[in-house]
Amino acid sequence: MKTIRFGLIGCGMMGREFASAVARWCHLPEMETKPEIVAVCNRTLQKTKWFSDHFPTIRQVTDDYRELLANPSVEAVYIAVPNHLHAEFYCAAIEAGKHLLGEKPFGIDLPANAAILDCIARHPDIFVRCSSQFIFSPALQRIGKLIDAGAFGRILEVEAGFLHSSDLDPQKPINWKRRVASNGVYGCVGDLGMHICAIPFRAGWKPQTVRAILSNIVPVRPDGIGGMVPCDTWDNATLFCDTVDPASGERFPMTLKAQRIAPGEKNTYYLRILGTRTSASFSTKNPKCLELLEYAGGEQVWGRIEMGQEMAFASITGGIFEWGFSDLILQMWAAFLDELEHGRPLSRFAGCVRPEETAASHRLFTAALESHAESRVVKIDEHANQPAAAGQHNLPADFK
Ligand SMILES: NC(=O)c1ccc[n+]([C@@H]2O[C@H](COP(=O)([O-])OP(=O)(O)OC[C@H]3O[C@@H](n4cnc5c(N)ncnc54)[C@H](O)[C@@H]3O)[C@@H](O)[C@H]2O)c1
Repeated sequence: MKTIRFGLIGCGMMGREFASAVARWCHLPEMETKPEIVAVCNRTLQKTKWFSDHFPTIRQVTDDYRELLANPSVEAVYIAVPNHLHAEFYCAAIEAGKHLLGEKPFGIDLPANAAILDCIARHPDIFVRCSSQFIFSPALQRIGKLIDAGAFGRILEVEAGFLHSSDLDPQKPINWKRRVASNGVYGCVGDLGMHICAIPFRAGWKPQTVRAILSNIVPVRPDGIGGMVPCDTWDNATLFCDTVDPASGERFPMTLKAQRIAPGEKNTYYLRILGTRTSASFSTKNPKCLELLEYAGGEQVWGRIEMGQEMAFASITGGIFEWGFSDLILQMWAAFLDELEHGRPLSRFAGCVRPEETAASHRLFTAALESHAESRVVKIDEHANQPAAAGQHNLPADFK
C-alpha cells in the first residue's frame, strides 16, 4: 500500500479527529493509499503531546508552521487552525509544494478566499480540497445517486441547515469562534455554511439572489477569567435563495439556515429536497433514516429507509450497523487520498469540497451580509474574485 506522509498544522479538536482517522485506517480494507503523520505543529507545544504519545511515526514537533512546511519528508498537510490564519497558512503550504486539505470556511472572508484560489491557480499540480464531511453520510450518498439519476424531476424546493443550541446559554464563555477578528464577519454562516452548501453546490444548484436575515442574539459573553467581553459574531442566519437547477434551467426557492441558537438542537444537519417525481428528507437527528416519496401517479406516500453503514469507501463494519461523526471524517479522508491517488473522485458526490465550491460559498455569504445590512435582495455575482482554472487539478470533464 502506498503511504502519503502528512504534516498536521493545528493540534486542536479537528487535528485530533484527523489523527484518530489515521489510527484506524485499517477500517477501510479496500484503500490503496494510507496517510502517515510524520510532523505536527501547534502554537502551544503542550497540545502536541497527545499526538507524540499516540503516533510513533511523528519525527518533527514544532510551534512554527514554516519549519513543518520546510520539511522535505512532508508530502501533504492538513491545516486546522482558526479562520483568520487560513489564507496565510494555506498559501504557504501550496507554495511549499504540499498537497492540502484545508478547513472551511477556506479563508476568513472573500478576499482571503480569493487569495487562496489565486495561489491554487498558480500551482495546478498541487491537490487542494476543503474539509466538509457530512456529504459522506450514507443517506446523503444515496440522495447524491438520486440526483445523478435525475430522479427528482423538476426541483420544487430545497431546505438545508445546520443547527446548534449550546449558545442559548449566555454564560457559555467566549472562544475564537465567537469573535469577528478570528472567526470572520460571516459569523455562524461562515462556520456552518460550507456544510450546508456542499450537496446543493455539487448538484449544480446555483443561488442567483439572496435575501438574508442575520441575528446577533447574545452580544456579550464571559471571558472565562471573571469579566464580560463583546461577542460580535452573528449567532443565527436564514438565507432565502432564488436558485437555478442547470439540469432543467428552472428556478426554485432554496432556504439555508445556519443557527447557533436553535433551542434543543445539539448538532443537527438536515436536507430536504422536494421534486415532482421524488422528494427526500434527511436529518442527523435520526441518522439511520432516509425519508423518500417517489411519485408516479397514485397515492403520495412518504417511506422510510433504514440506512446502515452504507459507505462510499468500503468499511469493515457490517452494513446493518450504525455510523457516527468519526466515520464521516474517516470517509472524507478516504476521499481525499483516493482522489489524490487516482486523479478523480470515486463519484460526483463521493469527493471532498473543491476550491471553486468554497469560492461560490464566499460569494453567497458576502451577498448575504449585504442583504441583511441593506434589507434587500442581493444578486450573487458568479464571477466576482474567481481566478481562472482554480481547483481544476486533474478533474475529469464530467465532474467540472
Ligand atoms: N469540518 C468540521 O466539521 C469542523 C468542525 C470544527 C471546526 N472546523 C474548522 O477547523 C478549524 C480548526 O477548528 P478547531 O475546532 O479544531 O479549533 P481548535 O481551537 O480546537 O484548534 C485550533 C488549533 O490551532 C492552533 N493554532 C492557533 N494558532 C496557531 C498558529 N499560529 N500556529 C499553529 N497552531 C495554531 C491552536 O493552538 C489550536 O490547537 C477551523 O477552521 C474550523 O472552522 C471544522
